[in-house]
Amino acid sequence: DKGEFRHYMLKEIYEQPKVIAACLEGRISDERILTSCFGANSAFLKEIENIHIVACGTSYHAGMVAKYWIEDLANIPCTVEVASEYRYRKVAVPKNTLFLTLSQSGETADTLAALRMAKQLNYLTTLAICNVPSSTLVRESGLTLLTNAGAEIGVASTKAFTTQLTALLITSIAIASEKGELSAAQQAELVTALRSLPAYVDAAIKQDEAIKLVSEQFANKHNALFLGRGPMFPIALEGALKLKEISYIHAEAYPAGELKHGPLALVDETMPIITVAPNNQMLDKLKSNLQEVRARGGELYVFGAKETGFEEAEGIYYNEIPWVEEVLEPIVHTIPLQLLSYHVAVVKGTDVDQPRNLAKSVTVE
Ligand code: F6R
Repeated sequence: DKGEFRHYMLKEIYEQPKVIAACLEGRISDERILTSCFGANSAFLKEIENIHIVACGTSYHAGMVAKYWIEDLANIPCTVEVASEYRYRKVAVPKNTLFLTLSQSGETADTLAALRMAKQLNYLTTLAICNVPSSTLVRESGLTLLTNAGAEIGVASTKAFTTQLTALLITSIAIASEKGELSAAQQAELVTALRSLPAYVDAAIKQDEAIKLVSEQFANKHNALFLGRGPMFPIALEGALKLKEISYIHAEAYPAGELKHGPLALVDETMPIITVAPNNQMLDKLKSNLQEVRARGGELYVFGAKETGFEEAEGIYYNEIPWVEEVLEPIVHTIPLQLLSYHVAVVKGTDVDQPRNLAKSVTVE
């Protein structure tokens, strides 16, 4: 039931504060992650020395964000790979490696095949972060952390993605703490930030009307370039995927530092550039990348907190998103990109919930 919403996708975007709260429920105390959420025996957390993440599509993008969290917080090497590649190559597995899959449906054929292959290799254990408790992936994995997003009907994944990120941040903090990489005070600070997450996401959704206005200028575009740096690069990839999927506009994403190495040649007045600005030491670097784009006539669409100092100007469309702790930026900054692709698709009149050629659950290779 779509209720008051015109499409399931919009309903699911609006459900995010509630389902992120459901994903946190019972997994954090006032000052720490409750490791019991990984099952009765959470001793494996201490033993992890390496992580291999395997997933497809939007779930793969969530894994790419997690790599930044895991290496930054837990100081553990982490690789991320699409399941359709992983399953057909010989994989070297270092000692005490966790095999981590991400899947909304838990029925994606390539992800299941990757898990079955991994179970023949010498992994520490297999953990699935999944949204469907009765799925094959959950049944066949050693351990499970459910995302608790509720049924997702729209083919374009929204709330499944932000709850995967929430579950991945819980996992990253838990591993970092168990490995002795975080003090009790640092863990408490991260958990406090996590508690604010539903309210932050709610505040980001409040920009809906403003983003709808911006999207009207987008419907006649044929291409779009998404730029991000650090953990905002996978968010740029996800923004580009959403736009492609439901509005059929060709979109690409690049880490902003790669611009000069090729894609800058694409930029002229007809190429919109979309970026989510982080509020950290990468901000100045991003700003100079954006100047290179502006100098070639590219229109900029910037989403960022007030503190980033962006303002509307000739050729620059700025939308505010709330300030949040740096670690939460990938989750909160996803929201405006979801809303942008949704409204562009509505303006274009495409079938938002059932994009052409795509299926909700990809159970064939
Ligand atoms: C994009 C999308 C797909 C899925 C991918 C994996 O919006 O939904 O890219 O993320 O097919 O599906 P799951 O997560 O069910 O394994």
